[in-house]
This record gives sequence, C-alpha cells and structure tokens, in this order.
Amino acid sequence: MLMRLARQTYIRQYDEFTYLFGKVTAFDQVFRSAEPFFAHLSRQPKEREVIVDEIVSDYADAPREVVEKDFDELLSPLIEKKVILVGESVAQLDAQEPFFTYDCDDPKTAKDERVLSSSEVEALPATLLDKYFAEHPTLFEMQLDITQACTERCRHCYVPEYNPIFLPYDKICNVLDEFREMGGIHVSLSGGECMMHKNIIKIIKAIRERDCTVACLSNLTICTDEIIDALVEADGTVQVSLYSMSPAIHDEVTRRKGSWLETMDSILRLRAAQIPVRISCPCLRINYKGYPEVMKFAESLKMDAQTDFIIMGKQDCDTSNLCNRLNLDETRILLQDVILKAVPMNSEYFSPGKKGQMLSAEEWRKRKVCGACVNSLCLNATGDYYPCPGFAGVVLGNCYKNCLRDVWFNSEATKRIRAVTGDSFDKCVKCMDRDYCSVCMCRNFNETGDMYKPAEHFCKVAAINHEVVDEKQRQMSVMKM
Ligand SMILES: C[S@@+](CC[C@H](N)C(=O)[O-])C[C@H]1O[C@@H](n2cnc3c(N)ncnc32)[C@H](O)[C@@H]1O
Ligand code: SF4
Ligand code: SF4
Repeated sequence: MLMRLARQTYIRQYDEFTYLFGKVTAFDQVFRSAEPFFAHLSRQPKEREVIVDEIVSDYADAPREVVEKDFDELLSPLIEKKVILVGESVAQLDAQEPFFTYDCDDPKTAKDERVLSSSEVEALPATLLDKYFAEHPTLFEMQLDITQACTERCRHCYVPEYNPIFLPYDKICNVLDEFREMGGIHVSLSGGECMMHKNIIKIIKAIRERDCTVACLSNLTICTDEIIDALVEADGTVQVSLYSMSPAIHDEVTRRKGSWLETMDSILRLRAAQIPVRISCPCLRINYKGYPEVMKFAESLKMDAQTDFIIMGKQDCDTSNLCNRLNLDETRILLQDVILKAVPMNSEYFSPGKKGQMLSAEEWRKRKVCGACVNSLCLNATGDYYPCPGFAGVVLGNCYKNCLRDVWFNSEATKRIRAVTGDSFDKCVKCMDRDYCSVCMCRNFNETGDMYKPAEHFCKVAAINHEVVDEKQRQMSVMKM
C-alpha cells in the first residue's frame, strides 16, 4: 500500500506541535506529540510498511503492533479527508488528488473544525497555534511587496509613492529560504502591483518550490495568460479589488481608464483556469452604494467576496487620501446594511451573535492586539521589513543589511511591536466601545502619528457599530418572543 501527502497538504513542526494544512480541503489541524508519525510522510509515494518501519525505529521502546495501530488511527480520518492519499499504485494515488473547482455547488474551501484524535496523539484545533505563537513568536506568514510601482492610482491607496523599485529575484529567493527554514508557510505577494515585476512568474514558482502557499494581491490589470499558468502550476490564489459593477465608478476609484474591463477580463480567465479568487470591495464614498452588486456578482461566479470600509491614512502619515472614506452617516448606513444581511467583512464588525463571547477587561488587557511580529511580518520593495500591511512607517530591519532571523529575533523594533498588548492603549482600556472596534497600531500610526493614539474617526465608528449591534440584538430578542 502506497501513501503520500496530497499535493496541497502542508506540514510544519513547531516544537511538540505538528501543524497540518490542507489547502483544497480547508483542513487545519494541530497534533501534539505526533512528529514521528508525520516525519516520514512526504509528497513522494512510499510503502506503508516502510513508513511504519521508520516510525518503529524512532520509537525504540514501543511494540510494532502498537505503533501500527496508532498510525492507522491517526491517519484514517486524514485519508478520508484526502489530506493524505493511499492506493495500490502511483496512478491510484494521483486519481484521488483533491483539486479546487468552480464546477460544484459550493467551491469555497469551507472550514472544517472537526477535531480528530487517537489513543496516543492529541489532536487540537488550529486556533491553539495562536496561543502557541503568542508565547513562542514564529514567522508563519509573510507579505512581500515586491514593487512600489502600480498600474493604478486608487484614490484611497495607502502607498505614498509608486516608484519603479523592484525587489531583485535573488534577494527574494534568499528571504524565502530563510522564511521556510524558520517554519514559514504562507506567502502573499503585494505592492504596488506585484504583476509588474518582470520576474513575477519565477517568484511565484520560487515560493511553491519552497513548499509554501502563494497568494497574489493584485488589481489584475496586467494579468497575462503566462502568469495564470504559473499560478495554476503553483496552486496559487488571488485576491483582487473590484470597486463596482459600474465600469465608470470602478475607473473613478482606480483613476485608470479601462481598468474595470481589464480586471473583469482577468477575473473570468482566472475562473476558467480554476484558480481560487477572492473579490474584495473596499467601500469609499463614491462606490459604497454599489457594493451589493459586487457581492452578487461574486456569488454568481461562486467566488469568495468581502467588503470593508476601514480606510487608513498613507504609510507616511499623509492623510490626504482619507477624504475618500465614508463619513459617519454613510458608515452608519453601511453598517446597518452589512450587519442586517451578515455580509462578510474584512474586519471585526461582527455579528450580534458574538456578543456573549467578548473578553473580560482583564483578558483584553493581556491579549495581543494582532499577529504583527508575533506570527507575521512584511517586506517592502526597498528591502525594509515592517510589521503589517500598511504599517511601513515602522521599520524593523532591512534585507540588504540584516538576515531575517536577526530581524525576527533581535531587532529592538520587532520586540517592541511584539510586546504590545491591549494594556498599551490607555484610552482603549477604559473604553465602552472597545469590543466593537479593531484596535490597530497601523491605523493609529498612519492617522495620528502615534501607534497608541486612536484616530477620532475610528472611535466614532466603533460607537456607531456598538449602537447598530445593540439595535440588531433588540430586534432579534423581540422576534424570539
Ligand atoms: C495596497 S493594495 C496592493 C495590491 C493591489 N495593488 C491591489 O490593489 O489589490 C492591497 C489592498 O489594500 C487596499 N487598500 C489600499 N489602500 C488602503 C487604505 N488606505 N486603507 C485600507 N485598505 C487599503 C486595496 O484596496 C487592496 O485591496
Ligand atoms: S490600491 Fe493597489 S492598485 Fe490601487 S493604487 Fe494602491 S497599490 Fe495600486
Ligand atoms: S473606540 Fe477608540 S478608544 Fe475605544 S477601543 Fe476603539 S480606538 Fe480605542
């Protein structure tokens, strides 16, 4: 009997925890004390007997029957989920390979929260990793802004300048090697417009060759068929901003004539190539009324979609882009709509049902506000490492001067960001609206110049969110009576 990992199953070992991520099957699971069981599995088919022999030699004291029984118990649900494939021949394994397709009822990679367990190995939900990372900072995901250049000039964009600066391919490979060696798994390409990089195809390949997942954040104005082929080959995914179903309004946001047509054409070609695409529709004053049409369009293509209205200042603290974001009245209208319809949002403006799950003040003070420098970090086109997308005003190191490991473990700036907890935000600690708000160092910094000082706009938005959620709760309880 042959066995191998599915093509899109990724495994990482973090101390005693083995993390398994099945990208197609949305399998997301952590196992404690299971390293020997997974260490001998790879994407190369191997005889089951050989794998068991290797595990037995790792567990010097355990009888073979016990090891075999535990191995089978551990693997059987994973085989059922096609995270691990078994078969009598290579052809049989290949025939079972799961793949993403739009040609089914629900192609979205639905979350599977099932917790598996066996007698010897403890299986735990992947959220346990968040707790682990908070105690043992681990570089799990990284965004590479491979250029500042862009084909568009979006009204709200936080990128201060669109200089034709490109991270060299060799430097990117060095960084990826370090990232992989440190246990990294997810890589996003962004910018600027990442598809303007002359080596974009090689970069996509390089990420996959290091056994990492690859996602492109792109406006898709210049997405060639060759890039699409590279994404297919690398099992890549795409996130694209689509601001309206009206070409004129979309182009008015991007300030590139014809951009709607270009983006739309690429979305359809990516779909034909069966590449998972998520459509993002950030809401500004000029496009927010049309966001439901974008959501409907995404649904008609069976694509994931999300909206958002949180627009932050530019990375260099210039706030001239903020005249485009919704004013408070418009925000209220949008919030009422998204909360009523439970539209997916790219932020914490949550469903009223979550109200009972809020943190106590004590827990809130202690919690990390986000994953910046805890499990993630970004690199920009000039070589500067920085904490999270948009937060380029805080530099952690530079890839031309520092190795990634040094930036992650020794940079004073990294340690400072990592140490931030709810307690660092004086005003927020006492705030009645904090559970309706996403306290964010980046948003604060870009708008007020101080990462601990919230911008008044976001505080007012949180108060509105609080009111709207309470109103919705009241309606729900009246309906139950
Ligand atoms: C900076 S862009 C880079 C990738 C690509 N050029 C694109 O537009 O998708 C990444 C995402 O950030 C969003 N974005 C840009 N400026 C923003 C701002 N000031 N506040 C919040 N999101 C912003 C864009 O709409 C896009 O969805
Ligand atoms: S949001 Fe993206 S596409 Fe628009 S200008 Fe900024 S980087 Fe370019
Ligand atoms: S509303 Fe303002 S003060 Fe309150 S938690 Fe949010 S940012 Fe902090």
